[in-house]
Amino acid sequence: MSVCRWLAVISSAVLLLTLPAWGTGRRTRPLPPHEYGTVVLSPDDPTASPVPFRHWEHRSRHTCRLCHVDIGFAMQAGQTEITCEQIKSGLWCGACHNGRVAFGIVSGAGSTCERCHSPFPVGRDRNIRAEFEKLSARLPAGRFGNGVDWAAASRKGLLKPLDFLEGVSFDRPRLENRQGDVSLDARLNGLPDILFSHREHAVWNSCDLCHPDLFVLKSGQTRFTMRDLFAGRFCGFCHGSVAFPLKDCGRCHSKPVRQGGS
Ligand code: HEC
Ligand code: HEC
Ligand code: HEC
Ligand code: HEC
Ligand code: HEC
Ligand code: HEC
Repeated sequence: MSVCRWLAVISSAVLLLTLPAWGTGRRTRPLPPHEYGTVVLSPDDPTASPVPFRHWEHRSRHTCRLCHVDIGFAMQAGQTEITCEQIKSGLWCGACHNGRVAFGIVSGAGSTCERCHSPFPVGRDRNIRAEFEKLSARLPAGRFGNGVDWAAASRKGLLKPLDFLEGVSFDRPRLENRQGDVSLDARLNGLPDILFSHREHAVWNSCDLCHPDLFVLKSGQTRFTMRDLFAGRFCGFCHGSVAFPLKDCGRCHSKPVRQGGS
């Protein structure tokens, strides 16, 4: 190995060590695995307690696309205007929480209010934690985030998230992917490049979650750096809030380092 190459390796090692300091992204306090990806919806009405929405519970059954395209939830916490009346008439959460797909809004005896308006602070509900542990025990382990390797779980057929909801989804071809992998240049000598797999992403996402808002449809045309990702843009839009977080460097920077150079 030449001196230049060693220098490159050392300098990228230094970068890797100092990079986490950039982590000024959306999350400051790390959430426990069973609350990673939880969005707390806070009603304006002070008599109603907050509603934790847990992604793990929902993504294990339904695709991202179904909620974020067909139903139309914003992909940014606190951006969707939801009321309980709307839910009762079948909108938003009510597309499923109608007593058929999932529990509905019931008052009086057998009230379901507290199943959504949780009396517990986020992270303190032991039943939810137990439910999470039951699910995660049968799925392959991941290192960060939910501690679940969601991609491997779907490859192994352990999860088959539904992509269609009667009366809500519009008719369209099944989610599939004919795009291949895209290799993204890490633009730093010695640092493994990034392999972006359309196949892995098409399991839950649809093309319109990423194109054209996050990435233009031509490889190499969207310019971004790790700093952008930590700020929640581009890949960091999902990786850091719902999909595995950015500190799992090696899952993205996975292509063997090119030989030669210098
Ligand atoms: C399926 C989940 C769910 C159930 C069950 C539920 N709520 Fe809600 N509720 C919500 C959500 C979501 C909001 C809106 C939060 C926000 O502002 O973002 C909300 C808002 C509210 C509000 C604020 C005013 C409004 O309508 O936006 C009140 C009051 C309320 N709920 C009362 C109740 C009562 C009483 C029950 C039981 C009869 C109940 N909720 C059951 C999810 C639920
Ligand atoms: C059952 C419906 C549902 C499913 C399935 C779902 N989401 Fe969400 N998602 C929501 C709701 C509701 C919110 C909160 C929206 C709001 O607060 O306005 C949200 C918020 C988000 C946010 C913003 C989080 C933040 O902290 O700002 C991201 C990113 C996101 N979802 C990505 C995903 C991805 C990726 C998937 C698939 C792996 C997915 N969602 C699956 C309903 C869903
Ligand atoms: C695409 C369908 C779908 C949508 C949309 C949806 N849910 Fe659910 N939700 C489910 C299913 C299925 C379950 C599990 C079955 C059950 O408990 O009835 C569930 C379970 C839950 C639970 C109990 C477990 C937990 O995670 O605490 C809560 C609370 C909940 N949902 C809240 C919400 C809220 C709030 C919204 C809207 C912001 C929402 N859901 C939107 C399908 C959905
Ligand atoms: C999770 C985000 C994401 C999803 C979902 C996604 N793409 Fe992409 N796509 C990308 C990224 C990232 C690139 C590379 C962009 C770059 O290099 O600037 C890309 C590149 C492309 C390209 C250009 C490829 C080339 O070699 O020039 C096409 C065409 C494309 N995508 C089509 C699709 C189609 C069709 C779907 C739906 C099946 C889809 N994409 C879903 C993120 C996504
Ligand atoms: C979700 C995927 C993903 C994860 C996780 C990830 N990276 Fe990156 N990284 C990228 C992409 C994409 C680029 C930019 C490629 C380009 O320039 O087009 C990049 C670029 C870089 C660069 C080049 C300089 C720059 O800022 O663009 C460095 C250094 C880097 N990453 C280090 C890291 C370290 C250290 C970690 C773990 C803390 C990490 N990355 C985690 C996807 C990721
Ligand atoms: C729209 C949301 C979204 C965006 C944007 C996105 N991803 Fe992902 N990505 C996911 C989801 C969901 C998974 C499934 C695994 C998980 O949730 O942890 C995933 C999985 C992956 C995997 C793991 C595949 C495997 O086989 O283990 C890699 C690597 C990855 N993404 C890289 C990237 C890179 C690089 C970018 C930006 C160019 C990007 N992602 C942008 C949602 C997204």
